[in-house]
Amino acid sequence: MPANSLDELVSLCKRRGFIFQSSEIYGGLKGVYDYGPLGVELKNNLKLAWWSAMVYERDDIEGLDSAILTHQQVMHYSGHEDTFSDPLIDCKKCRSRWRDEDLIDSRCPSCGSNDLTEPRDFNLMFKTNVGPVDDNASFAYLRPETAQQIFINYKNILDSRSMRVPFGIAQIGKAFRNEITPRNFIFRMREFEQMELEFFVAEGEDDEWHRRWVELRLDWWHDQGIVPNSLEPYHVPQEELAHYSKATVDIMYKFPHGLEELEGIANRTDFDLASHSKKGKYTREKDTKNEHSTVHFASLPSGLPADAGKLPYVIEPSAGVDRGVLAILNEAYTEETLENGSDRIVLKLKPHLAPIKTAIVPLKQNHADIVSLTNELKVQLAKLKVGRIACEKSGNIGKNYRKHDEAGTPFCITVDFETLEDGTVTIRDRDTTHQFRLHRDKLGEYLNDQL
Ligand code: GAP
Repeated sequence: MPANSLDELVSLCKRRGFIFQSSEIYGGLKGVYDYGPLGVELKNNLKLAWWSAMVYERDDIEGLDSAILTHQQVMHYSGHEDTFSDPLIDCKKCRSRWRDEDLIDSRCPSCGSNDLTEPRDFNLMFKTNVGPVDDNASFAYLRPETAQQIFINYKNILDSRSMRVPFGIAQIGKAFRNEITPRNFIFRMREFEQMELEFFVAEGEDDEWHRRWVELRLDWWHDQGIVPNSLEPYHVPQEELAHYSKATVDIMYKFPHGLEELEGIANRTDFDLASHSKKGKYTREKDTKNEHSTVHFASLPSGLPADAGKLPYVIEPSAGVDRGVLAILNEAYTEETLENGSDRIVLKLKPHLAPIKTAIVPLKQNHADIVSLTNELKVQLAKLKVGRIACEKSGNIGKNYRKHDEAGTPFCITVDFETLEDGTVTIRDRDTTHQFRLHRDKLGEYLNDQL
C-alpha cells in the first residue's frame, strides 16, 4: 500500500534519516537534497542492483565513471547549447518565474495574475569557471546528463576493451539542471543522479533492441519491488521528442503527486556520435571485417569524409536514481494495524535494498553480559558482508522494533537472558512480525539465505 501523500514520505525520510533538505540551517537550497545515513545505503543498494544487472550479469556492457565538468564544445555539438531549454515566463505582478506548463489557466500559480511576459527560452545548463581567469572563454558546463561523456569516450572504450556492436556502456553519476521550478521533493531536483546505459546497435536492428530494452527495464523495476500496476509505458508523441530522439518510451510511475516519468528509453539513432564526429576530434572508417555497421574512430584534427562508414545507432535507457528512490520508498510504505491492535508504519523494502539488513537489540541496555554478547554478535554478522548490521545502544525492545519497521530493516535479533544460557536469540521478521528462536551459530546461514 503506497503512501497517501508526498508529505508522509518527506516526514518519514526526515524522521528516520533518509533524506534532508540541503543547507537547511541557512533556509535550504531549493531543488537540492542530502541523503542521510539510511538514504545513502538505500541509494547505494539501488545503484548496485542496476550496476549488477547491467555490467556484472552481462558480457556486452562495460562501465564508465567520467568527469562532471564538461568541455563547452561537447555540449555545443551535442545540441544542448541550442536546445536544452524550457520556456520561462515571468509574472510581472509578484515577480515569480514559471515554466509554460506550470501556469494555471494562463495565470500565475502564485498570485493568479495574468500579467505575464511572453515565454522565452531559458537554458537549463549550469556553467562554472575553470582556472583563475574569470572570462567568457574559460568556462565548463556541469553535465546535464551523464550520456555525453559516454559518447566522447566511445573510442577509448572500443579500443581498450575490443568491443563489437551490439554492446553498451553504462554509467551512474550526478547530473545538474537549473530547473525553473524544482518541486515534489526529490522528483525534480537541480542536482540529481542518473543511471544511464548507451547500447550501440546496428541501424535496422534499433527498433527491435528498443522494444527489448523497454521490456528489460520494466522487469528490472518490478524486481526492485514496484508492482506492475504502478508502472505504465508511455510512447512519447513525435512532437514531444527530445532533439536527438527518433522514438522514446517513458516508464511512468504512479508517484504520490501523479503519474510521472521514472525512466526514459530513447532511440538516439547515431545523432550523438555523428555530431561529435563531424565537429569533434573523431572520424570514421568502414569496418570491413564486420558486415554490421561497426565503426572505428581515428583521431583527426577535424572533419569527417562524407562517405564514411555507418555509425551505430544507440538505445538509451536513462533512469533517475532519486526518482527510483522515491518510487521505491512510496511502494514500500505501508500503514497497518497488527493483530494486537497496535498501528504501525513499515517500509516493506526488498531485502537487497534495505539500508540496514539486520538490527541487533539487547533486551537490557545496562546488563554488561547482554551488551557484550550483542557486540560480539555484531562482529560475527558483519563478517557475512551482507550489508549494514546495526547494534542498538538505547531504547526498549518495542521502540526499536517500531524504529526498524520504519527503516525497512528486514530482521531484528534480540539478545536476552536465554541467550546467555543456551546461545539462542530471537529473530523477528519485519513483515509478519513473527518471532522464533535460533542458535547464534545458525544465524549466518539463515541471514545469508534470507538476504
Ligand atoms: N540522457 C537522457 C536524459 O537525460 P531525461 O529524460 O532528461 O533524459 C533521464 O532524463 C532521467 O533522469 C529521467 O527519466 C528522470 O528519472 C531523471 N531526471 C531528469 N531530470 C531530473 C530532475 N530534474 N530531477 C530528478 N531526476 C531527473
